[in-house]
Amino acid sequence: MRVLGIETSCDETGIAVFEGERGLLAHAVYSQVEIHGEYGGVVPELASRDHVRKTLPLIRQVLEEAGLSKDCIDGVAFTAGPGLIGALLVGAAVGRSLAWSLGVPAIGVHHMEGHLLASMLEEPAPAFPFIALLVSGGHTQLVEVEGIGCYRLLGQSLDDAAGEAFDKTAKILGLPYPGGPALAKLAEEGDPKRYRFPRPMTERPGLDFSFSGLKTFTLNALEREMAKTNDPDRTRADIARAFEEAVIDTLVIKSRRALCQSASRRLVVAGGVSANRRLRARMEQMAANEGGEVFFPRPALCTDNGAMIAFAGWQRLRAGQAEPLAFEPRARWLMEELPPVRACRGRR
Ligand code: KG4
Ligand code: ZN
Repeated sequence: MRVLGIETSCDETGIAVFEGERGLLAHAVYSQVEIHGEYGGVVPELASRDHVRKTLPLIRQVLEEAGLSKDCIDGVAFTAGPGLIGALLVGAAVGRSLAWSLGVPAIGVHHMEGHLLASMLEEPAPAFPFIALLVSGGHTQLVEVEGIGCYRLLGQSLDDAAGEAFDKTAKILGLPYPGGPALAKLAEEGDPKRYRFPRPMTERPGLDFSFSGLKTFTLNALEREMAKTNDPDRTRADIARAFEEAVIDTLVIKSRRALCQSASRRLVVAGGVSANRRLRARMEQMAANEGGEVFFPRPALCTDNGAMIAFAGWQRLRAGQAEPLAFEPRARWLMEELPPVRACRGRR
């Protein structure tokens, strides 16, 4: 079965074709960075309009790269939520009508399930059950995963998501949008020993996160230190590094806690922030110390892409799930509401 995946939940148009036997046949991502850059963040209406312009040409390009005509597609998967409603509507309308015109089934995919399953596109793929840490621009969640659609939320951010904290702090540091990768780059030059920022909520039991205080802490540190430094570039880099260390350390501490409470020794880390090199290295180290294993998607599949949507859609379509002709994208959508693909052991 060959599935076309369409991702348009935010500021990237992602298209891919996944096939059961041969895996990922082709994928391409078009980023709207230049459009939103001058506004310092995503402008929803501009995002929707650009998805309208890019989705069909990108589908043509990906089919051509895969050496396929559209008649070779057996199913269409599109991101149905969560995300920007106008942006979601574009991918859903294109995906649903394309499936109708080809006479094949369509499925609306949960964006975070896409991220969660992306590591299964890699070798070796994680076996169920595992613990997943999802870290994106909109979500920070620890999830117990028993199978596809069998998700139990263990903890989540009570305020800003990890990626959102990176983006907002990058703005405070005067870095361009998108802030996360820019902050990570600046932090490379920073001295990790000069400042130590708090690791929020790690002293208390539980698996929830809170990152908004860290952003304010960074702002205060920046104002205080810049007033007295003779080397502002060095100080900014050291502050960026202290912020990055604090976020990563917090994510590592809570992931270790989740692993220790679980019967599984496997941890999956996914979503945009999992592209962060230092986060990957620190998680590897922690998992090795705990006698466990950590799995990530390749960096290009950590941030938003069509491959994860094609793959998650393929898993559900081959299990016989599909959408009726009426589709309903959802700006908000809990992952635990998803139907299981196979019966979960004991739980549901
Ligand atoms: O998953 P994603 O592409 O989109 C959402 O679903 O939100 O995640 C985007 C987030 C942004 O906040 C971005 O700044 C962050 O991931 N990000 C990073 C890095 N690459 C992307 N954060 C830290 N370090 C990175 N290397
Ligand atoms: Zn995402």
